[in-house]
Amino acid sequence: MKEQKWDAKAYARYSKGQEKWAKELLDKVLFQGDEAILDIGCGDGKVTALLATQTNGIVTGIDKSAEMIALASKSYPDVIFLQMDATKLTYEKQFDLIFSNAVLHWVHDHKAVLKGIKKALKTNGKILLQFGGYGNASVILNVAEKMIKDSEYRRFFYDFTFPYYFPGKEEYQKLLEQTGLDRFQASLIKKDMVHENITAFKGWIKTTWFPYTNQLPKDMREKFIDALTQRYLENVPLDKRGRVHVEMVRLEVR
Ligand SMILES: C[S@@+](CC[C@H](N)C(=O)[O-])C[C@H]1O[C@@H](n2cnc3c(N)ncnc32)[C@H](O)[C@@H]1O
Repeated sequence: MKEQKWDAKAYARYSKGQEKWAKELLDKVLFQGDEAILDIGCGDGKVTALLATQTNGIVTGIDKSAEMIALASKSYPDVIFLQMDATKLTYEKQFDLIFSNAVLHWVHDHKAVLKGIKKALKTNGKILLQFGGYGNASVILNVAEKMIKDSEYRRFFYDFTFPYYFPGKEEYQKLLEQTGLDRFQASLIKKDMVHENITAFKGWIKTTWFPYTNQLPKDMREKFIDALTQRYLENVPLDKRGRVHVEMVRLEVR
């Protein structure tokens, strides 16, 4: 498996889908106006900055990527951003709300994440997590899985392992119970991700499907994305307005 590195600037540009979902998630919170909030996997920081508009309490964004933290700190100097791994949270009874959007399917050790969350949460604190769940993005994943077996590409994927964790509802509820967070509920939610045009769709592939493209030499990546796009659109055609739809499944914990 090749190194996993986020391109923070490209993410900031091609993350309209994630931003829309983050806003929908924020709409589910009844803010008191003084909560201390932790945003796990804050990325470029725009969602953390939105959280900060809802409270006078301290808002902290953490992310594993140094590049994301550098961009977030520069873009939103009034918010606290720290480089930290979600599996190694260092907080104790500090937050009223722990939030995370579109992050935790990148993490495999959820016991460690949930233990850290439990420790970081104040008594009666809330959590709101949403990430890829069982069945997420299945059409595009099938297309990609077939492509990496093609004779043109397969020699680059001999050491490739599936990079995501998409748990089911029961499996996750069990994890919540095992970590003493059973007062929170896991559920699976189907969502349509809409990309305004093919360029936006390709931008999304480029920035968030890099575990696949990074396996390839740099000069082959564009061609791979073009072929993936073409094959995907053969399965799921553009809508009348030229937009690309991707059926996603999210696991939500609240
Ligand atoms: C798709 S972005 C989501 C960013 C932001 N939450 C949003 O809604 O726009 C995923 C982020 O998760 C971060 N991430 C991945 N694994 C992580 C881990 N183990 N600990 C902390 N952050 C992680 C990545 O660095 C990246 O910034």
